[in-house]
Amino acid sequence: MNTIALLLAAGYGKRMKSELPKVLHPLIGRPMIEWCVRAVAPLIAGRPVVVVGHGKAQVQAVLGDLADYVEQAQQLGTGHAVMQAAARLDGGVDAVLVSYGDMPALRSETLAQLLDLFVRHRSDPALAFAMLTVVRDNPQGFGRIVRAPDGRIQAIVEDVDCTPEQRLIRELNPGVYCFDASWLRASLPKIVPSASGEYYLTDLVALAVAEGRTVVTVQAPIEEVDGVNTRVQLAEAAAVLRRRILERHMLAGVTIVDPATTYIDDTVQIGPDTTVLPGCLLQGHTVIGANCQIGPNSQIVDTAIADGCWVSYSVLESARMDCGAEIGPFGHLRKGAHLGEGVHMGNFGEVKDSYLGPGTKMGHFSYIGNADIGDNVNIGAGTITCNYDGVQKAKTVIGKNAFIGSDTMLVAPVTVGTGARTGAGAVVTRDVNDGETAYGVPARVKPGTSANEG
Ligand code: UD1
Ligand code: CA
Repeated sequence: MNTIALLLAAGYGKRMKSELPKVLHPLIGRPMIEWCVRAVAPLIAGRPVVVVGHGKAQVQAVLGDLADYVEQAQQLGTGHAVMQAAARLDGGVDAVLVSYGDMPALRSETLAQLLDLFVRHRSDPALAFAMLTVVRDNPQGFGRIVRAPDGRIQAIVEDVDCTPEQRLIRELNPGVYCFDASWLRASLPKIVPSASGEYYLTDLVALAVAEGRTVVTVQAPIEEVDGVNTRVQLAEAAAVLRRRILERHMLAGVTIVDPATTYIDDTVQIGPDTTVLPGCLLQGHTVIGANCQIGPNSQIVDTAIADGCWVSYSVLESARMDCGAEIGPFGHLRKGAHLGEGVHMGNFGEVKDSYLGPGTKMGHFSYIGNADIGDNVNIGAGTITCNYDGVQKAKTVIGKNAFIGSDTMLVAPVTVGTGARTGAGAVVTRDVNDGETAYGVPARVKPGTSANEG
């Protein structure tokens, strides 16, 4: 069956009270509409077609080639939105899946059930379309599903057009349909604008019934079809999606001690037997290996963490930790920080744009920026790379097995050689060669430690 998918997303989203188009609001790591695109994509051969209007350029810039686009310049209703894609209904299309760009919690599995229902009824030449319905206590804002005494669907009546009796109906229209393409093509021009001048897609039910055609329905879970119109609903959708992501990780072998306080973007990967303690935000393209302990209270963004690492009360951004590295409590890895295998970084340390070689230890109160540090270096408490002279950044290089005394200031550019040592409180303004000890302010080489001495 050749199926195409339309996602309606041209509306303004006034109730979000936002400069940002509604469907681009971020939701656990992806813009809202990307969730919708990803849910339909596996069910069709081509790319989903997004009907864009308000914020068109922004929506297209964000989704890029995840979708195709059709413009609805003026928002004259859901029926009108589908009409804009009429040209796409030709050329051997059998079925047209229609959904919204503001229903991010709708799962692929549920859309697949709708397609299944359509396929099962396809041998009936009277079939016009299949659609989802939902039963919920609060029907506000939804079209009501009106059925005949024999149970067959008769019409969808919009909230504003309901009689007092129809108002009591609790079976509602989520707005998700699978149409027979040729019937849809023939029927769209028959939609008559409402009193307010809107073309209701929902009028197609009564139209089909009047022609003696069949409309079949299947119920969807409530949580999946709550569209997002306000930021309250945005938070509700986020809660549903968040729970799903946490469950996926737990079922794949990750221990999440307190799901209620754990926030993991959809884009994050975590290996088995890793434990995530309460209060963590794992975001962006973060990848965490197996057997790690993450948290409590840590934020990790776009960071690669290898197996067996330990992160406690820390913030990591665009950084990397090799196997068995540790940070925290209260560490900060900034862009380009790379802790080699088994590196230990203790409390109140900050590393930016620097590599710390395997086995290096930096226990307390240090800042390391623009540095290249060898293996098994001991970085004493309070060490600082003075990497910025007010105009530009300069580099610090420390050779393997060096010992940097507490409170050393390394005034970059500067190199401390292999096995070299600095005394407590040294202000190192000139290179220290391999094996030398430098001490004092400004630091000078301790006699008897330099290979260069006569
Ligand atoms: C629509 C349905 C209603 C259903 C409800 C579920 C109609 C006439 N009514 O109502 O039965 O219960 O959705 O949420 O279809 N859109 C466009 N172009 C337009 C108008 C809307 O692209 O001209 C898009 C919007 O961006 C949005 C979606 O279609 O994503 C739904 O539009 P909305 O105005 O929220 O429809 P409702 O009036 O809520
Ligand atoms: Ca709506």
